[in-house]
Amino acid sequence: MPRKIAAGNWKMNGMKSSLSELRILEDKHGDADIAILICPPFTLISACEDTPFDIGGQDCHTAEAGAHTGDISAEMLADAGASYVLTGHSERRTDHGETDALVAAKSQAAYNAGLIAVICIGETLEEREAGQTLDVIDRQLSGSVPQSADALTTVIAYEPVWAIGTGKVPTTEQIAQVHAHIRTRLQSRFDDGAEFSLLYGGSVKGSNAADIFAVPNVDGALVGGASLKAADFSPIIAALESV
Ligand code: PGA
Repeated sequence: MPRKIAAGNWKMNGMKSSLSELRILEDKHGDADIAILICPPFTLISACEDTPFDIGGQDCHTAEAGAHTGDISAEMLADAGASYVLTGHSERRTDHGETDALVAAKSQAAYNAGLIAVICIGETLEEREAGQTLDVIDRQLSGSVPQSADALTTVIAYEPVWAIGTGKVPTTEQIAQVHAHIRTRLQSRFDDGAEFSLLYGGSVKGSNAADIFAVPNVDGALVGGASLKAADFSPIIAALESV
């Protein structure tokens, strides 16, 4: 069975004072038997080490170390206490021109450092309206997921770009179609393709989480805005715990 994961992506949000939200979550979900992953900004990773949650970076460089001002390596994330890293988030692809090849190289760098890569894929609204969703998914899966991937080292997050931070959510049928497609592709490429955790991301909230988690092949969520406050993230975690 794929592992169930409730993942929070804090993006460029979070100060030291935000750690109090994690203490509230810890009181409620500290011994949950699903994985709870928090991806805070780099500045807070070390400070999260004493929480019971899995901690992830939001990006990493392809190299272990070197002259790359402002970047961070997967080794550094691991050293700071992270066990996961997001790669290929659509905001990285858009803001920093990240290509599938670069995302694959970053994911490989994550594996080399012993991190689990959460590889993010998803179509834009234009691509969906042009009927290209599954083609985009295929291109991103084959270009962004290294051949060395397996279910222990890799999580796939399907995040339609048009659903991120917009309050717009695909129908459960649309999510089901894409997740089934991803599962099929992973199974034909990897021996343990049935075991990869597949997350849905894009405007997940307490009010829609249970419906999304009931969709076949959805093993959890990657949550942005609603992961910042314990009061918003807790019902999402609870919905996943009760699937
Ligand atoms: P959102 O972001 O939940 O705020 O839509 C999701 C994400 O970008 O991972």
